[in-house]
Amino acid sequence: MFSREIYIQRREELINKVKSGIILMPGNDEVPMNYAANPYYFRQDSTFLYYFGLDLPGLSGVIDVDENNCILFGDDPGLDDIIWMGPQESLTDQAAEVGIENVSPSGNLENVLNKAIKDDRTVHFLPPYREEQTAKYASTLHIKGELVLKKASANLTKAVIEQRSVKIDEEIKEIEKAHAIAYEMHTTAMRMAKAGIYERDIAGAIEGIALAAGGYVAFPVILSRHGEILHNHHHSNLLRDGDMVINDSGAENFMHYASDITRTFPVSGKFTIQQREIYEIVLKAQKETINSIKPGEKNKDIHLKAATIITDGLKDLGLMRGDTSEAVKKGAHALFFPHGLGHMMGLDVHDMENLGEDLVGYDKEVKRSDQFGLAYLRLGKKLQPGYVLTIEPGIYFIPELIRTWQKEKKFEEYIDYGRLGDYIEFGGIRIEDDIVVTEDGHRIIGKPIPKSIEEVEEICQESV
Ligand code: GLY
Ligand code: MN
Ligand code: MN
Repeated sequence: MFSREIYIQRREELINKVKSGIILMPGNDEVPMNYAANPYYFRQDSTFLYYFGLDLPGLSGVIDVDENNCILFGDDPGLDDIIWMGPQESLTDQAAEVGIENVSPSGNLENVLNKAIKDDRTVHFLPPYREEQTAKYASTLHIKGELVLKKASANLTKAVIEQRSVKIDEEIKEIEKAHAIAYEMHTTAMRMAKAGIYERDIAGAIEGIALAAGGYVAFPVILSRHGEILHNHHHSNLLRDGDMVINDSGAENFMHYASDITRTFPVSGKFTIQQREIYEIVLKAQKETINSIKPGEKNKDIHLKAATIITDGLKDLGLMRGDTSEAVKKGAHALFFPHGLGHMMGLDVHDMENLGEDLVGYDKEVKRSDQFGLAYLRLGKKLQPGYVLTIEPGIYFIPELIRTWQKEKKFEEYIDYGRLGDYIEFGGIRIEDDIVVTEDGHRIIGKPIPKSIEEVEEICQESV
């Protein structure tokens, strides 16, 4: 965990922003997989981690804004817990490490909340994203389950987003550690990708790297010869010479900071000419958009720059035609690039998505578009120093989408459907890196992972 001063300062800043009432901030609980004693991997709530730092189930934090006071509710392990799970530091000692002096048994939480409700004080809480949380808010705050989301505090949500969006140096260091794990995951995958092995051989090995590093994967591994399926979590295909593999994966380090990297590479260790041509366009879009990152730039404009580079590149290959800026404005390129250029990253891989994508990625100045493709852009607003974001353009040939648009004769003035027959089994290419916005520009996080055609072919020809 970070130093106690960091947690104290974060809670103080939150108190200053929220101004009045009390804040209820529960951590996560264990979730049973098939019976209670057989739980899923425990993942603490990211906002609880941010303000309270403790990575244990069964805790709740209360911040009394009016009294400038914090209480941690939770129970010390009993003898039974110690017999089955081993000895643990007392909750009071653990709380002291994050600067909290008041620890109270979990059974007292309801009394404190009842008193606050009786005194007509506002109890702020964040929108829940697990059914168990909704049920807990409903029972402890005496509100109907279906009203919980509605009653979540807009004021608290806004304050948390403001704070968590800007990463301090200590957080960037943790993200760098998560990136170092992703470096191993990605270079291992490139070396392993040989004809005759299954996708799951690689997916399992790289997930093992994340676990062996003391953390977990930041999201389910996307590893497939079907790169055109944007978030494909199935790993059952056999790899063959001539295939490309897309590997979109990252790790959470021990502190739960994420990395999120995508590389696309040839199974045979050699791209075909057709693959190289598309790869070069995606790589150009990725590098040039990264170069545009600086404070004050709107990420929506950077996304549109990627769309422009992709459209120009596809025009050079004869797959698109007509006026580039018109095609991009109307969204014709989204046949090939149907997703957003990137998202915020931090304690969550899509940082704070549970608090509301529009609240994290948009503001009064930049509104989310409803156009196909651009609508999926998670981060559109102006960038600020301390933001960490991904840049992940791609070009995909999605047979169902191509056939649908072709039948509708959609954007025929910009798309040469006649030429797409040669690409129908192409798959897709995406390249993704993690970037921190600095005072005067940006920095790509971590040791560079092979990305140019030459670097990628070289490492794919090595063996593990
Ligand atoms: N890992 C999913 C994404 O790139 O956003
Ligand atoms: Mn990714
Ligand atoms: Mn991503």
